[in-house]
Amino acid sequence: MSKILVTGGCGFIGSHTIVDLLDNGFEVINIDSNIRSNVGALAGIKAITGVEVPHYKVDLCDLSATRQVFEEHPDIDGIVHFAAFKAVGESVLHPLLYYKNNINSLANILECVQEFDVSHFIFSSSCSIYGNTDELPVTESTPMLKAESPYAHTKQIGEQMIESLSTVCPATGFVALRYFNPAGAHPSTLIGEASFAAPTNLVPVITETASGKREKMMVFGDDYNTRDGSCIRDYIYIMDLANAHTKALQYLQDQKNQKNFEVFNLGIGEGATVFEAINAFEKATGLSLNYEVAPRRPGDVEAIYSNYIYASKTLNWTPKGSMEDIMRTAWQWEQNRPEWSFKAG
Ligand code: WQD
Repeated sequence: MSKILVTGGCGFIGSHTIVDLLDNGFEVINIDSNIRSNVGALAGIKAITGVEVPHYKVDLCDLSATRQVFEEHPDIDGIVHFAAFKAVGESVLHPLLYYKNNINSLANILECVQEFDVSHFIFSSSCSIYGNTDELPVTESTPMLKAESPYAHTKQIGEQMIESLSTVCPATGFVALRYFNPAGAHPSTLIGEASFAAPTNLVPVITETASGKREKMMVFGDDYNTRDGSCIRDYIYIMDLANAHTKALQYLQDQKNQKNFEVFNLGIGEGATVFEAINAFEKATGLSLNYEVAPRRPGDVEAIYSNYIYASKTLNWTPKGSMEDIMRTAWQWEQNRPEWSFKAG
């Protein structure tokens, strides 16, 4: 059974990926600083899988503490690296917080990859690396334009750091997975998107509005050049996104990669507007949402959605979840959120 180190495994995408890795026969250990996550997610994972995942409460910016985990586990076969700050708006207000945390932690984990000869490395990247592109749907060869936020810039820099390292680590396979808009929750609703500050992403804002935690929500702009005037995004069900990480690891373990640094878009290849997402929630739940149109949000791109065919063919991965699955599970999670999901620690 190959041992995989997940960093940021108490987070939204990390916790769902650990479940999929365990379901597919991997052994998993977890590093998470729990600055922006809660160790309770591991209890959710145990309730779902029966597995108690060993947890190291370590900040990857602390290289010596990070190295100790590798000294304790010389048999780490692969790493899935999620640990990073990811709030676009916050990164605009606090750029150095993002550059220091996201870049230093990546540099440290990559140093361990090189020192301990780790065979496989999966990097959590983002569609925001494409910037405000008008080449739609985006493919993996769509050029990176100027990043619209420091968060997106840390992902661009991260990919470039990994590509540089890959040229001197020929025995290691590196993959960057460019996420579009992950949403929804595990069907058990024992894990989900646990935002500790007020969420800014659309789907948790929708569910908080439906639950009454918010009196109403804003639609940021209905004057875009799209079919109904609101922005278009590519919403991908979280369990499909999680499975793509397992498939990417298996792809590297089976040595099917042509080069030792490859990138993949992870979306479903369709775009949905904000109004369409709201309608999908209302249809899936029978509830009606209280919203009003507000001015555009700075930093938003008008439309972005993926061409995911390369990932699907190459990784033997097919996203199956629908917008209905996203909205139904997100709503179930909102209604059943466990105590741990409201505070970091
Ligand atoms: C989606 C659409 C908003 C809230 C970001 C990051 C991306 C990834 C996912 C980390 C936009 C509109 C939203 C609201 C609204 N993050 N909206 N009212 O900005 O596409 O992507 O999160 O990996 O890297 O860039 O996601 O959910 O914030 O916004 O109208 O209250 O919903 O304007 O058009 P975004 P989002």
